[in-house]
Amino acid sequence: MTQNITIDIRKAVMALSDALDLVGIDEVQHGKRVAYIAVQCALKLGLDEESCNELFEIGLIHDIGVSETSVHKHLIENFEWDDENKHCHVGFELIKDYPPLAEYAYPILYHHTPWEKLKDIKLTSRHKRFANIIHLADKVNVLAAPYYGANILEKSDHICAQVERYGLKHFNPSIIQAFLSAAQSPAFWIAMESKYIYNFISDRCLVSKPMIVTLEDIQFLAHIFAVIVDAKSKFTSEHSINVAELSYYISETYGLSVSVCKKIKIAGLLHDIGKLRIPDEILEKNGLLSSTERAIINQHSFETYEILRKIPGLEEIAEWAGYHHEKLNQTGYPFQPHAEKISIEARIIAIADIFQALAQKRPYRKSLGPKEIVSILKEMVEKGEIDEMIVSIVEENPEECYKISTAHQSEKYLKA
Ligand SMILES: [Fe+2]
Ligand SMILES: [Fe+2]
Ligand SMILES: [Fe+2]
Repeated sequence: MTQNITIDIRKAVMALSDALDLVGIDEVQHGKRVAYIAVQCALKLGLDEESCNELFEIGLIHDIGVSETSVHKHLIENFEWDDENKHCHVGFELIKDYPPLAEYAYPILYHHTPWEKLKDIKLTSRHKRFANIIHLADKVNVLAAPYYGANILEKSDHICAQVERYGLKHFNPSIIQAFLSAAQSPAFWIAMESKYIYNFISDRCLVSKPMIVTLEDIQFLAHIFAVIVDAKSKFTSEHSINVAELSYYISETYGLSVSVCKKIKIAGLLHDIGKLRIPDEILEKNGLLSSTERAIINQHSFETYEILRKIPGLEEIAEWAGYHHEKLNQTGYPFQPHAEKISIEARIIAIADIFQALAQKRPYRKSLGPKEIVSILKEMVEKGEIDEMIVSIVEENPEECYKISTAHQSEKYLKA
């Protein structure tokens, strides 16, 4: 049975772009600034409101193909670099079949393609123009990044001169002119400072875009983000996807309704979205973590909650996902609610998360088998940390749980 749900798709894109910006660690406003610059150029070009809105959203998610912090570092520090097109292809593949975002796939595919090459590519003129506006906005932000919070106004002429120097090789002449015209006003530059950029974003988001979608549509979007999170480290590949599948299986066996099971799967897909903030070297560290590194890791479920709670319509899912490291005896993190405040849905995701993580190899330990995992879960029940009833479902079906949590079955999600 298909269940419809109303979500504000613009707020969803906005919230998820927050997750993408987390990859930046230090420069956490890259997508927002690129969206801002793109819209300012579009206004100077006299584009209509709809085009401005589309460019705003493309700007927010243009780097959707980036999950490693090392790649993001390149994006904001280097004007040109080897492999810079790789993330464009990844982003294109992620969204091309998802109707609410598919229209943005081509501008994202070509957002690092210089104009001298782009102009001869077979593509609609609208997509070419969007791709090149994002290309310019992205490069302006790279050039401006060192000066935010310092002397951006003094450097504005220098940045404009550099854009002109890269000129016709990289950009369409009318887009360069639009940028230079927007860049004349000091306000253009001041608005990009950290303390003001959010005002621009929230003003744009006031124009909401409610959309009635099915749980399957949301699941598709959640799947896109699960792929991004899981791609962050080879040790966590398919983690979110398998946690989602195992959570679904446990909820179904527990006897929850189909629509709740589907929502749990969505929460499972998104539960680690806050991990995008963790630097690659911590996730990949071979050895024990320092207390500082541990503290950084432990913030991820808070970040997950913060990102998801901003999407009207997904409040429950935000809580289930954000609670996946909570314990019934309040020894988890980060909210430490009383046991009665931890819903059955959140308890299921927490156990699926532990099960899947133990079944997977980590840099500091080998992967464990079903028997070992069940005995660890039972010890945790004894300590009052996790739900006994749910663990008993796992204990009765250890092989099935193991199979599900170690399968590579991404395709299944697209059809479920
Ligand atoms: Fe990019
Ligand atoms: Fe987690
Ligand atoms: Fe996890």
